[in-house]
This record gives sequence, structure tokens and C-alpha cells, in this order.
Amino acid sequence: MGLMAVDQTHLLSKMATGDGHGEASSYFDGWKAYDKNPFHPTQNPNGVIQMGLAENQLTSDLVEDWILNNPQASICTPEGINDFRDIANFQDYHGLPEFRNAVAKFMSRTRGNRVKFDPDRIVMSGGATGAHEVTAFCLADPGDAFLVPIPYYPGFDRDLRWRTGAQLVPVMCDSSNNFKLTRQALEDAYEKAKRDNIRVKGLLITNPSNPLGTIMDRNTLRTVVSFINEKRIHLVCDEIYAATVFGHQNFISIAEILEEDTDLECDRNLVHIVYSLSKDMGFPGFRVGIIYSYNDAVVNCARKMSSFGLVSTQTQYLLASMLSDDEFVERFLAESANRLAQRYRVFTGELMNVGIKCLQSNAGLFVWMDLRHLLKTPTLESEMELWRVIIHEVKINVSPGSSFHCTEPGWFRVCYANMEDMAVQIALQRIRTFVLQNKEVMVANKKQCWQSSLRLSLRKSRRFEEISMSPHSPIPQSPLVKATI
Ligand SMILES: Cc1ncc(COP(=O)(O)O)c(C=O)c1O
Repeated sequence: MGLMAVDQTHLLSKMATGDGHGEASSYFDGWKAYDKNPFHPTQNPNGVIQMGLAENQLTSDLVEDWILNNPQASICTPEGINDFRDIANFQDYHGLPEFRNAVAKFMSRTRGNRVKFDPDRIVMSGGATGAHEVTAFCLADPGDAFLVPIPYYPGFDRDLRWRTGAQLVPVMCDSSNNFKLTRQALEDAYEKAKRDNIRVKGLLITNPSNPLGTIMDRNTLRTVVSFINEKRIHLVCDEIYAATVFGHQNFISIAEILEEDTDLECDRNLVHIVYSLSKDMGFPGFRVGIIYSYNDAVVNCARKMSSFGLVSTQTQYLLASMLSDDEFVERFLAESANRLAQRYRVFTGELMNVGIKCLQSNAGLFVWMDLRHLLKTPTLESEMELWRVIIHEVKINVSPGSSFHCTEPGWFRVCYANMEDMAVQIALQRIRTFVLQNKEVMVANKKQCWQSSLRLSLRKSRRFEEISMSPHSPIPQSPLVKATI
């Protein structure tokens, strides 16, 4: 029987048919535009270049070398087959002890060995995505809220809210102080929630930040800790970009504040770290997420819930071996930081040459690009208009600030670590051409610049049509599947 386009509203649950997945966003629309016409250097050189995906592919070669040199770590090799049965049978939701030990050690290493993590507090989940959901489940009842500084990662709207029924309340940050989080902004958001009869259960911060690529300084972290302690609300720290920091300034984990700033009062039961190997190691496909809570009850509950999203023991086994190889980890982290720094320098330097500035940053896999000077009017509508031009004409998928809930129009997140040097150069060439053409048209006709050529496509610019999606991302299949076809 063929598929019928029927209204499923009454057949499925309210949650399933609602829009809690958060995919009605330009962030995901950009991915779909890329998926319809993906750039390929020879097969589709005029396609859309994917710069909306925070993936770290700059050090994949180092991992591949390690795997080739350590065949016993993969249980499906002649060298590893002796462990196959034990590993394939293991299903304890505590995880392999050697995996938890190795992850705890790696978390310390990525925080400069300035702080230790207890392997017994490490709970597994399906990526940071699963970790956020489980944490929100443990901490909040339906209707309760987490404060979240804007701009924030759009996936939070799905991860923290969809199945838990929790809400997110924005904490206003803007360019006047380089989007730094302030005590005043926290108080304002908290008071507003109270006025709206919303019970605030926690504050969620992302450090290093996605989309800003900045790290929080010690004073800001101290402000955060004293705020949550005073209000008796939880603090969830997403630190999944901890090892993407480059340059001279060190990343400071919330764990360091708890350990070192002994003058600061804080009930540790309120503090939880979300971690993952998706960004730091470039393993988003392995779905390794970690909840590290200082609260015993949360550890216990999260561990039971982790049954819904365990990391495969084959992956645990491989990573236990890889992350225990100190020499490899040292080399990997140093080289990764070097390569990210180099990409950042080239990318931002070339943008600067055409008059495009980015927020000064030293972490993450992206930059926060300032295109305010290219907006027709300083409005979010103009931002969307410009974004459509960039997708359809310049053929680059970047993500508009509004998809990160940024209220100040004209900012865009651009990812630069998910592609080869050649693709970066082509993207930069396209941006250069766009800016130059734009300048000429601006001179010729002060008012009408890029907008005129796009009037047609804008008129029909409703959402891209729905297409079948993978469970994790709204594109039908991953770029990797595509690349290997
Ligand atoms: C801040 C942040 N948290 C969580 C995630 C989800 O990560 P994972 O792939 O480990 O589920 C992302 C992915 O981009 C992210 O940027």
C-alpha cells in the first residue's frame, strides 16, 4: 500500500505531533538547503557549502593513524577478537569501569589537569543531547524553567524542553559588552520569570560558548556560582567545547571554581556538568555524552535513565583504550588546538580583508560574524532577508543570529572546522565576490543593493518543504553517507 498524506493529529500523541522538536528554525532550514544542493569540488562545484555544522574534522587523520596502530582496541579485528564476547555481552548501565576511568582522566586533561573528576560520578548518555535531556528530567518538572543566556545553541529548545515539558527563559546578552553575561541580566531574567509565574529551577550556561566561540572569565563564573547559590537553583554547565580552546587564554571549568575558589560559598549539590566527545575529539557519530553531577541523587537517577541512551560497549572499549594512551592524547590535543587556531586566523583574516569583522574569540569550531553593516534595516526581517541571499546566491549555509535567539540583528554563526582547506578558500572567494558586488551596486544605487536580484525568491520564501529526517538531524542522511555514495 502506498503512503497516504493523512492528518496524523489524532493518531499520534500530542507530543509527537507538536512542534517541541524545535526544527521550525532557520538553523535547520539551512541544513536542508545544503542537503538539497550539497557542494562537491568536482561533482557539484556550484552547490551550497555547509558552514552551519559545528563539526571538528581537522584532526581525523590522527585518530585514523591511532586506530591502525592499535588494532586490538577494535574488537572486530584478529587482534581484538578475544574480547569480542565479553564486550558484546556487557550491558551494565554503569558502563565499563575502564571507560569511565579513561573519560574522567580525559576530562581532567582537557582542563589542564588542574582538577580531578571522580569516575563514579560519570554517567553515560547518547551525546550531550541525551545528557541535557536526562539532566533536565532530573531537575525540573513540566512547566519549570531554566534560564539560558542568549545567544544559545538552537538544539537546547529540543533537548531540554521537548519530552520534559521544561521551559527556557532567555537571559539578555548583547554586543555592547561582547555578549558577556552579567549579574544584572541574570537578575532581570529571574525576576521576569517570577512575574510570569514561572518557577526557575536552574541556569544553563555553555562554556566555551556556542555560537560565540568565547570562554567565560573567572569573575563571570564566580558571579554565576554566587547567583545560583543565592537563589537555590541548579547550574548546568555545558562544557562540550572544552578542548577546542586555542591561544593564550586558558579555559576555566566550573569544576575549577568549585575546587579552587574556596572563599566562594556554593552548595555543590546544585552543580552539574554536561560533556561529550562530539566536539573535542570530533566523534559526534559515536554518541558519547557524559553527565557529571556533584549531586548523588542526580547521579543515581541519571544512571537509571541512561538505560535509554547507553553508549555501545564497542565504542566504550575502543575509547577506553584510546583515551588511556597519554602520549596520543597529549599530541592530539596540542595538534587540534594548533590546527583550530590556524583555521581561525586564516578565516577571520580573510574576512577582515573584505571589511567583515567577527567577535574576538578563542574557542569552538565557528566564528560569530558581524554583518550588521549589510542589513537593509536593523531588523530581524532584514537579517532573514540577508540570510536567504547568502544561502541562495552566495551558496553558503551560515546560521542567522535569530536562530540562536539573538535579539540584535545582523550576527551570523559560521563554522569552519568541518571542511578541507580548499572548501574554505572557495567559501571565502564567494564571500569576497558577494561583498565586492554589493559595494558596486551600493555605489550605483545607494538604496537597492543585493535585495533586488532576490525579490523573486524572497516572495516565495516560505519554509522549505518537510522532508524525511534522521532521528538526530533534520537532514535525510548524514553528509558522510552522502560523501560515500
Ligand atoms: C552547546 C552544545 N551542546 C550540545 C550539543 C549536542 O552535542 P552531541 O552531538 O554530543 O549530542 C551541541 C552540538 O552542536 C552543542 O553545540
